[in-house]
This record gives sequence, structure tokens and C-alpha cells, in this order.
Amino acid sequence: MAFALSNQVQLLSKIAAGNGHGEDSPYFDGWKAFESDPYHPTKNPNGVIQMGLAENLLCHELVEDWLMNNPKASICSAEGLNEFKGIAIFQDYHGLPEFRNAVAKFMGKVRGNRITFDPDRIVMSGGATGAHETVAFCLADPGDAFLVPTPYYPGFDRDLRWRTGVQLVPVVCDSSNDFKVTMEALEAAYEKAQESNIRIKGVLITNPSNPLGTFLDRETLKDIVSFINEKNIHLVCDEIYAATVFTKEPSFVSIAEIIDQDIACNRNLIHIVYSLSKDMGFPGFRVGIIYSYNDQVVSCARKMSSFGLVSSQTQHLIATMLSDDQFVEKFIAESAKRIAERHKAFTWGLSQVGIGCLKSNAGLFLWMDLHHLLKEQTYEAEMALWRVIINEVKLNVSPGSSFHCPNPGWFRVCFANMDDRTMEIALSRITSFMLKNVEAKVPNKKKLCWQRSLRLSMSSRRMDDFMASPCMSPQSPLVQART
Ligand SMILES: Cc1ncc(COP(=O)(O)O)c(C=O)c1O
Repeated sequence: MAFALSNQVQLLSKIAAGNGHGEDSPYFDGWKAFESDPYHPTKNPNGVIQMGLAENLLCHELVEDWLMNNPKASICSAEGLNEFKGIAIFQDYHGLPEFRNAVAKFMGKVRGNRITFDPDRIVMSGGATGAHETVAFCLADPGDAFLVPTPYYPGFDRDLRWRTGVQLVPVVCDSSNDFKVTMEALEAAYEKAQESNIRIKGVLITNPSNPLGTFLDRETLKDIVSFINEKNIHLVCDEIYAATVFTKEPSFVSIAEIIDQDIACNRNLIHIVYSLSKDMGFPGFRVGIIYSYNDQVVSCARKMSSFGLVSSQTQHLIATMLSDDQFVEKFIAESAKRIAERHKAFTWGLSQVGIGCLKSNAGLFLWMDLHHLLKEQTYEAEMALWRVIINEVKLNVSPGSSFHCPNPGWFRVCFANMDDRTMEIALSRITSFMLKNVEAKVPNKKKLCWQRSLRLSMSSRRMDDFMASPCMSPQSPLVQART
């Protein structure tokens, strides 16, 4: 058996034999914990609630209504069958023209129609995941690197690095200034890479940010554009959360707007990654977009897109749906409104038990600060707390270390992938956890006062949930740590 195994490893490529996928990180471990004990309101009420998945389910019924009213959009319905043959045999990697037109228009709408996108620059890919890899293949060779401000989406370690051999160099942005991207941090990371003989080919920013839920202001974007122009390196902007921005003021600024203004910029260096996974809530459709201002990148990425095309059936449906202006406008407005409401309810609930979050105005998640609960300010203590949250509080949240956060104690909590009731239960579990934690460390007199005010601030229904929720055991490492 041992012989067979070692023999097998030698037979495989380095990629197949290695673990570059990064599946063994806590980010993915949390998903496994959820999958082995998933919460269900009746079948498994004490199961793990999935708060580690940045999915947008808040407006799905609007899409379902649209589908009911537009049966012709599907080539697999009686009404749409006429189109079946033409669409099913279509396989051109340029994509259906109506698909590219509709996506270009949608990208403009999501950015307040302040800019237009050229359908001829739209290249499709298998989600933003595929788009990032394709862009990395087009811009960098194995060993080359991209600078990425921290904290950043854990999937980048897989998407940009695994099959391309490209490296990611963190730009350390920390809690001291609310994780702002500064020119000093960019310059320091660039210089350090150069000292290590690492060739930097570009900067990758996520705007709005996953996991922060914030977006970059105009000045910072301009500074980044100057930085990359000065170094003659690329700028890749992941804007897949553009429509999750829920404030009018400040409003989201796309990199497309910045370079549209009269600033000195070599447009060949600018590339946008987009997808419908977050803004429309369609991660399963795998509609990813590369929008590059560089003709050569457009041409090469288009050829590469053969490896991850969006099915023509999906292109056809999306083209029809996104061409319906009335639907799109209603969807964008309603989605932002519902995200804002959910965000407000969740931050309020957390604040009632003394939990703060980074102030944010976009995204499908909160960046929750639990550093005050750590036994010591280390990643080990963060992981100990994370295990308590997964195993005893029964919530799958993602620890900051998996986002390369330089400060221990931050956790990403997704809030848009569940219904209101599940959100209330999640909040009640956190409340229960915090009460136990306070019980373990606050003297009796103070504790009573704190608990009373907490009870007053919760609705009676929430209090019932709290009473019914699973409690931490006295053996909890956290309780032990605090006693
Ligand atoms: C910042 C960021 N980029 C890319 C992706 C991948 O998106 P897709 O589902 O379109 O592949 C995600 C998914 O969570 C993300 O958060």
C-alpha cells in the first residue's frame, strides 16, 4: 500500500501532488464543519449556521417572479423552445453579442451610469475565480508577484497562485487606521519584494473590499493609479461587490471613473474583474467578466476563455434578464435596500452585547472585532476562540488570519445568505455566548446590571431564542481563559 502511494505521487504533476489549492485553511474548515452539521430550523435546530459564505439571497424572489413572467428567456421552456437549437449549438468564445451588450450595460448601471463599458472589451470566464486566474496568466509569469492589501479574500491564494505559479505579496494594512490602503504601505511592500528579488507585476485591489465591506475613496484610487503608473505595473480591480454598496453618500467610485477623468494613466495597465455572483446573487451561473483596457489582454484572455466559457444557455437567459431595464433598476435598488436593512439589524444586535464591527457600507458581511475576547493577542488565541464559535456557539464565521489580517481577533460574518429568522437565531446564539463570557469574568453585582439592560434591549422573541440556543460548556477554552 505504501509502495503504491509513493509510486502514485511520483506519477502525478507537482500541482496534483501538492496542496496549492489551500483547502486545508480554517476558511474552508469552517465550511466543512457546517456541512457535517448544517443548521435546519426543524430537522437540525442546533446545527451550525453558515455565516462563512458571502452569498446574496435577499432578493431571489424578485428573480423568481421575473422568470415566471418571462418564460421565453429560457430555451428549455415551451415558450422559448424556438431558440433552443440556435443557442444550444452556439460555442464561439466571443460570447453572444446580446450577452456582452447586456453585461456592459449592467456594469454601467451598477456604477450609477456615470461611465459606459464597451461590449467588445467584455471577456467571459467561469466566475470571478476564472477571471482572476486568466488575468494572472495574461500579466505574469511563474515567480512574478502581485501586491495585495490586507486583509484579502482567501480564495485569491488559490485563484491567482495555484495553477499559474504567480505569488501574492501582502501590503500590510491594519486596524490602526481602519485598514486603509496607504501609499507608504504599498511602497514598503514593493521595496521589500524588490530586496527579495521578487518581480512585482501589479497591484490587486478588491473594491468594495471582502472582508471589510468598505470601499476606496477617490483620492486613494488616484494615488494607486499614480503608484502603478510610476512603477509601470498593472492594476487589477476586483469590483464584484459594486452593487452591494448601500449608501448614496459616499457613493461607490469605480476605477473606470477614475481613469475616465483627466488623469495621467497608461490605460493598458488597467483591468477590471467582475461577476454576477454577488451583485445578482448567481454564483452558480459562473458568470465572470474580465474587462481590460489593454487590447492584447482582451485578445489573449478571450482565447483563454475557451477553458471556462459561460454556457450559451446561461448567456441567453442573462442577456434577456439584464436587458430588462425596469427589472434591473428595481433589482439594484431593492437589493441595496435589503442589504442595508440586514446590515443595520445585525450590527445593532451585535452592539447590544458589546461587539463592535468596522464601519462599513457595502458587502454581504461584517468585519467583527472580538480582539478583546482573546486570551492573548496571537493567532493561536484567535484560533482557540474560532473553535469555540464553531463548535459551541455553532456559527461558521471566518477568522481574520485566513484573510491575512495582521491583527488577531477579527472575524468575517456573512449575513445575506439566510432568512430573517435564521439571522435572529444567529444573533441569539452570539448573545448567549457573550452573556456566558461576561458571567465568567464580571463580578456578580455588575453582571446583574449588565444582564438586565441586555434583557431590556432585546425583544421577547429574541430572548426566547436566546434561552433556547445552545450554550457554551463550562469546559470552553474561552470560559477557562477568562476565569
Ligand atoms: C473578492 C472576491 N473575488 C472573487 C470571488 C469569486 O467569485 P465567483 O463566485 O464569481 O468566482 C469572491 C467570492 O467570494 C470574492 O469575494
